[in-house]
Amino acid sequence: MNGASSLLAPIAKRLAGKVALITGGASGIGESTARLFAEHGAKVIIADIQDELGFSVCQGESINGAISYVHCDVTSESDVENAVNTAVTKHGKLDIMFNNAGRTGQIDENILALEKKDYKRVFDVNVLGSFLGAKHAAKVMIPAKRGTILFTASSVTQSHGIASHTYTASKHAVVGLTKNLCVELGQYGIRVNCISPHALPTPLLLKSMGIDKKKAEEIVSSAANLKGAVLEAGDLAEAALFLASEESKYVSGLNLVVDGGYSTTNIAFPQSIQKFFST
Ligand SMILES: NC(=O)c1ccc[n+]([C@@H]2O[C@H](COP(=O)([O-])OP(=O)(O)OC[C@H]3O[C@@H](n4cnc5c(N)ncnc54)[C@H](O)[C@@H]3O)[C@@H](O)[C@H]2O)c1
Repeated sequence: MNGASSLLAPIAKRLAGKVALITGGASGIGESTARLFAEHGAKVIIADIQDELGFSVCQGESINGAISYVHCDVTSESDVENAVNTAVTKHGKLDIMFNNAGRTGQIDENILALEKKDYKRVFDVNVLGSFLGAKHAAKVMIPAKRGTILFTASSVTQSHGIASHTYTASKHAVVGLTKNLCVELGQYGIRVNCISPHALPTPLLLKSMGIDKKKAEEIVSSAANLKGAVLEAGDLAEAALFLASEESKYVSGLNLVVDGGYSTTNIAFPQSIQKFFST
C-alpha cells in the first residue's frame, strides 16, 4: 500500500458486532470509552445516575444510535440486573462489561475522624457496585462461554498515601476481585482485567480536590514521572479498547497501570539529594 492510499484507509473497527455495558458512562473515562467503543463498531449501553448527562452522550449524528442510556445506581442489585438485561434485550447479548463507576473519599481523611458511614459509601459504589456488575454480567456470559469483564481500579493500588484510606482500600479490593474472578471465569473463556489510571481532571477528581482543570493538570504534571504528556480520559478509553478487543485475547488477570511510570519511583530520595547539594 502506498502512502496516499494508506492515509485514506478506513480505521479497522476493533469491536465490530460487540455489545458493551459501561457503568459511570455519563462522564469522564466512562463517557470517553463509550464514544471510542462506538467508533469501533460496538453497541454501547451506558449506565449511570446522571440521567440528563447520560442521555446527552447518546445524542449526535456521529453516535447514530450506537450508544443508549439506562438509569442504574450500581449499589442497587435490581438496577444492575436491569442494566444487563437491557443490553441483552436490546442487542441480544453482552460481550463487554466495564465496571467503571466510582467515587472518592474525603481528600483530607484521617483514620481517627473517619466515620463508618463515609467508608461504607465509598465501598458501596467502588466494590459492591463492581461486584454486582461482574455477577450479573457473568450470569449471561457463562452460558455464552465468552465475554470480557473490565474494572476501573486506580494507581492508588500501586502508590500509597496519595488518596484517602477508603478510596485506596476500595480500589485494592477491585484489583483483588479482578484477579480472583479471572481464575473462576477462565474456564468459561471469560477474561477479567482492570485498568488503573493515575490522576486525571474529570469531575470526580476536580470535585474532590476543589480545583479547576488547569490547576489539576499543573499539579499532576509537576509531580509526574513522564514529562511532556498529560493523562486524558481518552488514554484510558484506549486501554479499555485494548483489553476489550481480540488484540488482548490471551490477557486475563491484568491490572493495567496507566500512570506514566509514576509508581515505579519515589521522588523523595532524588529531591532530598538535590536539597542537600543546593544548601
Ligand atoms: N479521575 C481520576 O483521577 C481517577 C484516577 C483513578 C481512578 N479513577 C476511577 O475512574 C472511574 C471513573 O471516574 P472518572 O474519573 O471518569 O470520574 P467522573 O466523575 O467523570 O465519572 C464517574 C461516573 O460515575 C458515576 N457514578 C457515581 N456513582 C454511581 C453510582 N452509584 N451508580 C452509577 N454511576 C455512578 C457518576 O455519575 C459519573 O458519571 C472511577 O472508578 C474512578 O474511581 C479516576
